[in-house]
Amino acid sequence: MYVSDSIQINEKGHLTIGNADTVELAKAYGTPLIAYDKDKIRENCKKFVSSLNEFYGNGRVLYAGKAFSCKEICRLVMEEGLGLDIVSGGELYTALSVGFPMEKAVFHGNNKTDKEITEALHCKVGRFVIDNIEELHTLNKFAKKYNVKQGVLLRIKPGIDAHTHDFVKTGQIDSKFGFALETGEALEAVRECLSFENIELCGIHCHIGSQIFDFGPFKLAVEVMLSFMGKIRDTFGITLKELNLGGGFGIKYSESDSPEDFSEYMKAISETLRKKAAQIDYPLPFVYIEPGRAIVGAECVTLYTVGSVKTIPDIRTYVSIDGGMGDNPRYILYQSKYEVVCANKASLPRTRIVTIAGRCCESGDLIQEHTRLQEVEAGDIVAVLSTGAYNYSMASNYNRYPRPAVLAISGGTAKVIIKRETYENIIENDI
Ligand code: LLP
Repeated sequence: MYVSDSIQINEKGHLTIGNADTVELAKAYGTPLIAYDKDKIRENCKKFVSSLNEFYGNGRVLYAGKAFSCKEICRLVMEEGLGLDIVSGGELYTALSVGFPMEKAVFHGNNKTDKEITEALHCKVGRFVIDNIEELHTLNKFAKKYNVKQGVLLRIKPGIDAHTHDFVKTGQIDSKFGFALETGEALEAVRECLSFENIELCGIHCHIGSQIFDFGPFKLAVEVMLSFMGKIRDTFGITLKELNLGGGFGIKYSESDSPEDFSEYMKAISETLRKKAAQIDYPLPFVYIEPGRAIVGAECVTLYTVGSVKTIPDIRTYVSIDGGMGDNPRYILYQSKYEVVCANKASLPRTRIVTIAGRCCESGDLIQEHTRLQEVEAGDIVAVLSTGAYNYSMASNYNRYPRPAVLAISGGTAKVIIKRETYENIIENDI
C-alpha cells in the first residue's frame, strides 16, 4: 500500500516497519523517533553486490556514508563486504571505530583539510578522490613525509545534466566539485598528477547527481568517462584501470516515483561499458559504484507525536509534530516529497489534506504541504516514510532541540543504534 516493502499495516491497523509496530515503538522509545528496517538494508547491500557481480564482475560497491553514517551501519556494510565512500574526518573516524577495512574506503571531499589528509594516510585509506590541484600538492607533500605512495582517482565533471533538483546536480561545469572536461582542466590535472612521486593515478571518478531515475545520464557518463580514459591513454601512454561512477540511484518517496530495479541499472551500465570499451579498444576497468540513498533511504520511517491540529478556514490545516527541520531539513531545502501516514490509524483512508509543521521557530519548518493524511488529532502518531537518507545525517540542533533516537529493526525486534540526545549533550561543549 505504501512506498516500501518494509512498511506494512498489522491487524491492529497500525503501521509497521520490519514487522515492528510503530505505535508500540513510539510508546517504548518516545518521539521523534527514527526506525530503520535493518534486514531490508542488508538485502539492498546484497542486491547491489550481486548485481555488480552478475552483470559486470570486476568492481566494488561502496556505500555512500553521507546518506546515513553511524557505527551500526558501518558494521553492517562491512559484514556484507561493501566498501565505503567517506567524505570527512568524522565519517572516517566512525568507520575506523568499528574496525572497517580502510583499504576498501574511498575518501571524497572538495576541501580536505591537512588534518583529514594525514588521518586518512595514517589509516591507509584505499583511494583518495582528488578534487583540485591544491589537494594534489598537499597530498603529495604528506605522502612523501610518511613515505607512502597514495592511490588516487581524479574527480571529473563530465558535463551531464541529470535532470534532477538544482542543488543535487554536480556533473555540470558550474559545480564546486572536480575538474571540468570541456575546458581541458581535467587533462591538465592528469598531467600534473603524473608528475608527483608519491601519488599513483589509478583512475577517474564522477558523480552526476542524486535521486535519478533515468538510465540515460548514467549511460552517457560511462561513455564520456571511458572516452576520457582513452584520451588519457592517447596523450600520456597510460592505461588507467579504475572507473568510479558515483551514486545517485533514485528511490520511491511517493507514489509518483517509479525507480527501476537496481539490477536493471547494472545491466544497462555493463552493456554500455562493454560496448564503449570495445569501440575504443580499452580493457574493461575495475568499476566502483557508490549508492547511498538506494541502500538506506526507503527502509526507514520517522515517527512523531501530533501536538495540535490548527485549521485556518479556506487556507489550510497545520498538523504540528514534535520534530521538524531539525531531524528532516529536506523539505525546507529541496521541497522534497514524502508520504505521511497516521501510524495508529494506518488502515483508514487518508481523507484530509494537511500541512505537517515542525516546531522550530521558522515558518518554513514544514515536512510536507498539502498532503493526504487520516483524520488526526493531538496524541496521534504521524509517520513520515522513506526518511532513511540525508535526514539524520543532515540533522541539526537548531533551537537546541535534541536529535532523535535511531532504532534498527531486525527480525521484528528493535535495538537502539543511536541514543536520543539529551539536554546535557546539547550543552556539553559549551564553556
Ligand atoms: N558519491 C558521491 C561522490 C556523492 O557526492 C554522493 C552524494 C553519492 C555518491 C551518493 O549519492 P546517492 O546514491 O545517495 O544519491 N542531501 C541531498 C543529496 C546530496 C547527495 C550528495 N552526494 C538530498 O537530501 O537529497
